[in-house]
Amino acid sequence: MRQPLVVGNWKMNGTRESVRELLDDILAGLPERGVEVGVCPPYVFIPQAAAQLAGSSVLLGAQNVADQDQGACTGEVSAAMLKEFGCALAIVGHSERRLLYGETDALVAARYQKAIEHGLCPILCVGETLEQRETGQTFQVVAQQLDAVLGRAGIDSLTRAVIAYEPVWAIGTGRTATPEQAQEVHDYIRQRLAAQDKDVAAQVRILYGGSVNAENASGLFAMPDIDGGLIGGASLKAEVFLAIVQAARKC
Ligand code: PGA
Repeated sequence: MRQPLVVGNWKMNGTRESVRELLDDILAGLPERGVEVGVCPPYVFIPQAAAQLAGSSVLLGAQNVADQDQGACTGEVSAAMLKEFGCALAIVGHSERRLLYGETDALVAARYQKAIEHGLCPILCVGETLEQRETGQTFQVVAQQLDAVLGRAGIDSLTRAVIAYEPVWAIGTGRTATPEQAQEVHDYIRQRLAAQDKDVAAQVRILYGGSVNAENASGLFAMPDIDGGLIGGASLKAEVFLAIVQAARKC
């Protein structure tokens, strides 16, 4: 049985005050069991969030992690630093990193590897652009993104990682994949992993991300291979985020 997981990706949003309020409200409305919950604030808010989440079950995560352990890497934050400040999760390969900041499959794989080495659970994002979908390349793109990481870190690393399928055309656009469209790709991912290791494939959690909201969450989470969500815009409002968390719990 895969425990559902719902993670908020706050992207570059928030102030000290809004972070405090959002976490207060999330903690107040959190279900006691049946779903795991995580939040990924911008780096600077991690110490504040860690203090506020101490003693709760909410997992703290970062939105990226360095591909090196230390040294001349201006602007980067290492896995060991994130661990020291209470992080359990790190998003890697988010499409905004890939497309806006030029992160390649090889760099994403190196970041993933560092997370694994230091005991941070990477949330590996994969997904196609609209053009790739329309030209029938969805499976090929997702396979290539997955293979780059598994080629480096090995299939066993997925026992300590999470995958997020996030079609680029659905991120921040209000245009969600239908449950069937998402399920088709989740199933493809699981089948592809199963060809290497059936047990790993059966137990790895595959989240869906891309314009998930309180209305569409239950339909998506009802699909057999969708194990929760990576939530952007809708994770910035406690009420909406908690409704999505509840939807994951029910399935
Ligand atoms: P969205 O973002 O929910 O705002 O579409 C999801 C994500 O980027 O992880």
